Amino acid sequence: MKPLIFLLALVVIALADDAAKPPSPRYETRELHDRNGIGKFYMGREIAHVMGHQAADWLERPEREQEERTDKMVAALGLKPGMAVADIGCGTGYLAERVVPRIAPGGVVYGVDIQQEMLDLLVKKMKAKGIENVKPIMGEEADPKLEWETCDMMVMVDVYHEFEFPYEMIRKLIFGLKKGGQIVFVEFRGEDPNVPIKLVHKMTEAQVKREMAVHPELEWVETKKELPQQHIIFFRKKK
Ligand SMILES: C[S@@+](CC[C@H](N)C(=O)[O-])C[C@H]1O[C@@H](n2cnc3c(N)ncnc32)[C@H](O)[C@@H]1O
Repeated sequence: MKPLIFLLALVVIALADDAAKPPSPRYETRELHDRNGIGKFYMGREIAHVMGHQAADWLERPEREQEERTDKMVAALGLKPGMAVADIGCGTGYLAERVVPRIAPGGVVYGVDIQQEMLDLLVKKMKAKGIENVKPIMGEEADPKLEWETCDMMVMVDVYHEFEFPYEMIRKLIFGLKKGGQIVFVEFRGEDPNVPIKLVHKMTEAQVKREMAVHPELEWVETKKELPQQHIIFFRKKK
């Protein structure tokens, strides 16, 4: 090989090697940390405590729609009849309930959570409302227990920053997502000091993008900013 070509080849290899990779070691624990976080860090971000089921009423507070404009949030998702949607970290099923009319007829919602008490509340609510196409799934901290390429969309409303194993969870979400399907983050805007939410429970758009860049199957699609306090960040699984 001629020296110049050899040099060019080296540069190409070096650039390819520079592609975003998960950090090694993947996680870091720090003594000094936010009291609302678990002291475990991923890509420079502290992971938040999981919101306990004892606070489930807060998710169903009547003023939530007005405060978070959840009506606009659901409308922004681009849901269509027949879709299979996973509500990851579904809690009481606040989102699932609002997704159901938009995926009818023929659609299904998988409500995934790691707290049995949340799933019990989800099931109770759906039963009371006569909704039959919301399926509860008991997940694990690093596994939402979804089958291979079964979902058109996975939505996490105020959830991702709580994942104790964010890297592993996203690997499993990609596994469960159909090619061309979307993973959607709804997170309180970390860039905005006026959003009155504890720091570790907010995320910046840049941080979400940084953390998704280590998953080569995903590409950023768009970020919608029409909500008062949250951004909606869409990624697609490449075909
Ligand atoms: C702040 S609540 C939000 C609930 C719901 N998305 C909503 O907006 O009403 C976060 C939920 O995520 C769940 N969660 C945390 N880590 C999880 C994981 N690894 N897999 C599934 N759910 C998880 C918690 O149990 C809790 O119910």
